[in-house]
Amino acid sequence: MKKTVAVIGLGYLGATTAVALSLVGHRVIGIDPDEKKVASLRAGRVPFYEPGLDEALGEALATKELEFVTAHDESSHEVDVFLLCVGTPQSRTGLGADLQYLEASIDGLAPYLRAEAVVVGKSTVPVGTAAYLKQRLSSLVDFAPNFAWNPEFLREGTALKDTLTPDRLVIGTSDSYSEQVLRELYQPLTENGVPLVSVDIPTSELVKVAANSFLATKISFINAMAEIAENVGADAVALAEAIGYDERIGNKFLRTGIGFGGGCLPKDIRAFQARANELGLTESVSFLAQVEDINLRRRTRVVDIAVEELGDLAGRRVTVLGAAFKPETDDIRDSPAMAVAELLWAAGAEITMHDPKAGDNVRRMYPQLAVEDRIADAVAGADLVVVATEWRDYGLADSAELGKLVANKLVIDGRNTLPYRQWQQNGWKVIALGRNLDSALVGV
Ligand code: UGA
Repeated sequence: MKKTVAVIGLGYLGATTAVALSLVGHRVIGIDPDEKKVASLRAGRVPFYEPGLDEALGEALATKELEFVTAHDESSHEVDVFLLCVGTPQSRTGLGADLQYLEASIDGLAPYLRAEAVVVGKSTVPVGTAAYLKQRLSSLVDFAPNFAWNPEFLREGTALKDTLTPDRLVIGTSDSYSEQVLRELYQPLTENGVPLVSVDIPTSELVKVAANSFLATKISFINAMAEIAENVGADAVALAEAIGYDERIGNKFLRTGIGFGGGCLPKDIRAFQARANELGLTESVSFLAQVEDINLRRRTRVVDIAVEELGDLAGRRVTVLGAAFKPETDDIRDSPAMAVAELLWAAGAEITMHDPKAGDNVRRMYPQLAVEDRIADAVAGADLVVVATEWRDYGLADSAELGKLVANKLVIDGRNTLPYRQWQQNGWKVIALGRNLDSALVGV
């Protein structure tokens, strides 16, 4: 059944959700106070890089069922479902989540809320946040508001696909009316076979942080194995393949390298620990501190290898290929690639970076680092090349040609993405995190 939906907050989550819901037949009003963002979306331009989203936005705008505004207006009185999609960044004062944007969203929508409408949170939040926000909203209206939670599992780089055909939908409700409205909202997806799990609100809040904690743990697990493998001459990539065949383990999210970053996993595991602490349950998730420690050690490991190979890094020229926290995005928030570049810079190296999409973000946020738009220009004169994001371009790069440009044919593959035999044949010394490239069997 067609709904009128207000999507509040037009970042990754909100912009993708707005486009996806209008494509499946709902009327959508996207709301964000950022005038530039709204103007860009109205003009059919997504204000960040996300494959396929520009085209989908154009398609959605053409239906005339999608509009973008900077503030609520009269049409918010017609809204059936308010979706809260604002950010919950790490607070400035601690590990916990900063809820100010959610609070502002609640305060902003309250004057427009009809008793029949449902307010639904999608942002990632500490468990208990929905109850707090519902209470805040209740104090601003003179009826009992319908309140629900509906965590989102989209990944950057595949955001639209993840929203239209997610592995599952999770809805957290405390009344059957809200549950029904959400089932109707998602009917276009569920009738195509997407499973919907209906739970209570605290479970729905927990599902999201539990999923991200599990994913982070999986990555740190294989990276812990990489630390051991490096020490004993074993190969963590082969190990991941071997354990991954066990269906109970699975082969996804076992890619070893410089670890996880981005706007979600790191902050979510920190916020989870902070919340557990508040609940007096510190020990329940204390392992997440180790998950983070392992993750950070992989970054410093790159610097240690660089020093082992080159000695003092002062004045040495290091090229870091990749800045985004993963391929197919221009997002450099908490990016392992940027952390490695900064650590090498702090050790005295002169850094030149390259990224197919994130170069301008690096220029804006890291003026101390040089950025080149072509791989060849970035590696020219390098004493060391570090691959820090697994963009396809790097795997496809011509190692023979690049070898002619560098001062020293040394590459550290921080993402296990290079066809290393070909690089070796072209005279490069290749060091790959967690790998034993001397093993005759590796890569066969
Ligand atoms: C993550 C989750 O995967 C989504 O399900 C979730 O909705 C989202 O956070 C969120 O909370 O909004 P995302 O941050 O886009 O999505 O990125 P991931 O694909 O999870 O990758 C996170 C990091 O882990 C990247 O830096 C990636 O390079 C790294 N990674 C991933 C590894 O180091 N090894 C792997 O095997 C997989």
